[in-house]
Amino acid sequence: MKKIYLYTASICISGLFCFSAAYAGEEDTAKEMAALFSSGRAVISDNQDQINNADLGDKGLTGDVVVAKAKEKYKEKMGKDVDANDPYQKAILEAIGDVMKDAQPVINEKGKGFKGFLPAVFAGQVATKASEKLSGKAVIKLTAPKELVRNRKNRPDDWESKAIEETFKKAGYEKGKAFSEATTVDGKNAFRFIQPEYYKQSCLSCHGGPKGETDISGGKKEGANLDDLGGAVSVTIFK
Ligand code: HEC
Repeated sequence: MKKIYLYTASICISGLFCFSAAYAGEEDTAKEMAALFSSGRAVISDNQDQINNADLGDKGLTGDVVVAKAKEKYKEKMGKDVDANDPYQKAILEAIGDVMKDAQPVINEKGKGFKGFLPAVFAGQVATKASEKLSGKAVIKLTAPKELVRNRKNRPDDWESKAIEETFKKAGYEKGKAFSEATTVDGKNAFRFIQPEYYKQSCLSCHGGPKGETDISGGKKEGANLDDLGGAVSVTIFK
């Protein structure tokens, strides 16, 4: 008992320090969630040609396969293994597995090229399922600068929009650096974290130029350039 008391006292030297210490764990949790979520999405991106192959039936992209590949990518990115006992990471892994299970009939259809199954669609489904599994403890979401949003479900809320417009777009802001803040959401204490992402060459077939041209998905290209800010992964953790 005494030990616990001393520890608590030591992290609460001042109101401010106590506060930052209290959110240190959330920063790691949010960063890990965003990294795992992006790893899963990158697996779909790597396999897009395979998924779009009309000549091939079974694509071999089962839930287990995509989860295993996502774990590998996470390790490359984070320099450590996924912690499957961590409830936040577990929810994302399970969501990836569920989404791929449901996607099997869609992606394995023979004779059809583009099937509408692309990284952002996968990500939207994983975000919804993972957030459901975390039932009120946390929410994860893929979003983007307002003017780029194609799916209204991905629209940034006020906090996300402010982070994108006033932090990520600020001249000289360090590329790739996440922004986080202890704040409130609907009156509840929350730790919010947002990780910017930039268009790679592989994204430009749909999001690049010429602006307004129709892409393979039937949507309109944004006319973006390589390395432009294209989106963000947003994580909210409730206290
Ligand atoms: C095959 C075309 C295609 C490719 C390639 C592609 N996207 Fe998208 N992207 C889309 C479509 C279509 C949507 C809307 C998805 C939906 O309806 O949920 C979208 C949505 C998004 C969103 C969510 C915001 C929104 O508009 O709803 C982000 C962020 C995004 N894409 C970033 C990227 C990045 C980064 C890459 C490359 C790593 C990429 N996309 C590659 C077609 C594509």
